[in-house]
Amino acid sequence: MKHLQKFTQYFKELIQTYRLFFKSAPLVATFVLLLTPLQAVIPLMAVAAGQKVIDQVTNHSPFMEMIVVWIVATAFQQFLPSLSTMVQGVLTDKLTGFINITLMKKSADLQSISIFDDSKYFDDLQMLRDDASWRPVNLIVFGVSVLQSFLTLAFMLIYLARYNWWLALLLLVVMVPQSISYYRIQQQSFETMVERSKNARYLHYYSGLLLDRRDAKEVRLFNMFPKIIEKYTTLFKQTKRDVNQIRKKQLATSSLFVVLTVGVFGYGFYWFTNSVRTGALEVGVLLMFVSVIGYISTSMARVVEDSSLLYDSLLWIEKYFNFLGYQDDFKNGTQSFPDDFNDINVKNLSFTYPFSDTEVLHNVSFSVKSGEKIAVVGENGSGKSTLVKLLMRFYDPTNGKISVDNYDLKDINIFDLHKNLSATFQDFSRFKLTLKENVITGYSFNKDRVNNVLKAAGLGDLLVNDHLNLNTMLAKDFENGTDLSGGQWQKVALARDLYADGKIEFLDEPTAALDAKSESEIYQRFLKENDKKTIFFVTHRLSAVRFADKVLFLDRGKISGFDTHAKLLQTNPKYKEMYDLQKNAYL
Ligand SMILES: Nc1ncnc2c1ncn2[C@@H]1O[C@H](COP(=O)(O)OP(=O)(O)OP(=O)(O)O)[C@@H](O)[C@H]1O
Ligand SMILES: [Mg+2]
Repeated sequence: MKHLQKFTQYFKELIQTYRLFFKSAPLVATFVLLLTPLQAVIPLMAVAAGQKVIDQVTNHSPFMEMIVVWIVATAFQQFLPSLSTMVQGVLTDKLTGFINITLMKKSADLQSISIFDDSKYFDDLQMLRDDASWRPVNLIVFGVSVLQSFLTLAFMLIYLARYNWWLALLLLVVMVPQSISYYRIQQQSFETMVERSKNARYLHYYSGLLLDRRDAKEVRLFNMFPKIIEKYTTLFKQTKRDVNQIRKKQLATSSLFVVLTVGVFGYGFYWFTNSVRTGALEVGVLLMFVSVIGYISTSMARVVEDSSLLYDSLLWIEKYFNFLGYQDDFKNGTQSFPDDFNDINVKNLSFTYPFSDTEVLHNVSFSVKSGEKIAVVGENGSGKSTLVKLLMRFYDPTNGKISVDNYDLKDINIFDLHKNLSATFQDFSRFKLTLKENVITGYSFNKDRVNNVLKAAGLGDLLVNDHLNLNTMLAKDFENGTDLSGGQWQKVALARDLYADGKIEFLDEPTAALDAKSESEIYQRFLKENDKKTIFFVTHRLSAVRFADKVLFLDRGKISGFDTHAKLLQTNPKYKEMYDLQKNAYL
């Protein structure tokens, strides 16, 4: 029952994949679809023509015509694979493009980032991303081959059945179980070695780790080579042992079935020879029988082998369809963001990350006036970045409400909301794009503004002294690319933030990588010269709180205090303790 279910599932996915071929390239896919049965039937034509030629020769009748048919069929048989490879290449390109673009578009539809917290989906996403360049090739090569071999097999069996239908049936009876068992064993060894086993993912990681650019320094400094290589070797040996066991099983089962199959082959041969001897059939059938048996066994083997190779890509395409069908519970709002707002209100906000059990923000309430500068402080893990993400609606609150004036954040159109926000994230992006693209992101290009924000972010020197220009690629692994220092990257993120120029600004540890001079300039630039903007800035450096109108002090997900720095020092002993600690450490 389970196997039947698996088989139906496989079949459904196969059909879905074929439909995808048509969706991505209707014309080319039609061409491939027409070519495939043609390729499957041509060998049979050649066999039948050869059979006729022998019959005609033995009967002393003219045979030239059939020889020509044989030559034409053979010529097609030789030529069609090259044509088919070419057309499949075109289809592969189209399908690869189609799949990748639909993946990107789907990601654009998902405005909440909760999908990245779902470990199941996250794994799938990684796999979708990593394999999107080559899976489509497999789908087409094996998908077409399975279909073609299946048709060849069917045509050959039908042809054989015309002479002796029960022989054809008997062949099916012995070959189908053989194929199924072979298929299952193939499947198991494949699963063990390559794909879905946990081991395979570790193996992949270990082998990649020692070659990775990002890890190159620590791997060397802490000499991790021997340990990682040993880990790899041990795991590899263990995995190989499993595979070898499966191979042994495979050999035993296939030997058993081979005996049965060869028995039927032998009987068939005897039956045909005997029919020729008694004069019931002409001698050409012997050539036909030998060739057809050859085709039947090779096509059967190919159906099995290629469908098990295809299986893995079908699992991948299943993930693809799942992702395209993924719906989070994010609902976009319809209101536009108010032109001028008075305040932002957070009321009884609690939050638990999706797919997690731990509440990280508990009943948080506060209100911020337009134009205020709010420092958000608290220990590691107290929920500062989480609060920022909620204020930007990357997640929705589990309980409570965030509103801008009287608009619930959820009712505001997300694109309009994001247009009015800008941010420098704690884990800001380092896009492998040009400097210009890193700054302008989705907005249109204005050279003067780009230069201004780069200067404001403290990158003016970089352009003058370091032979960099706006079109320099910020990635070493691209041609003419370069890399920046950690602090310079942070400044690029700040420039990007300035360029977006939102009404509400979020700075999450924006100066963590900056030197003291740059830090002070940045705070000056962002907080002093930005009267109108409402700014939330997360910081561990309490010296920066002097720029803030108010300090929001988070303690393990709760608000411990929300007031001016001076007041908090008087009223909140925990805050005072934290401040004194830093003061003593630095001054
Ligand atoms: N995606 C997530 N899924 C589940 N839990 C998360 C996720 N991101 C963060 N957390 C948890 O939420 C809590 C608050 O994290 P958050 O990043 O908001 O802290 P933070 O105050 O910004 O800390 P830091 O000062 O280190 O930046 C932490 O306990 C963290 O483990
Ligand atoms: Mg943080």
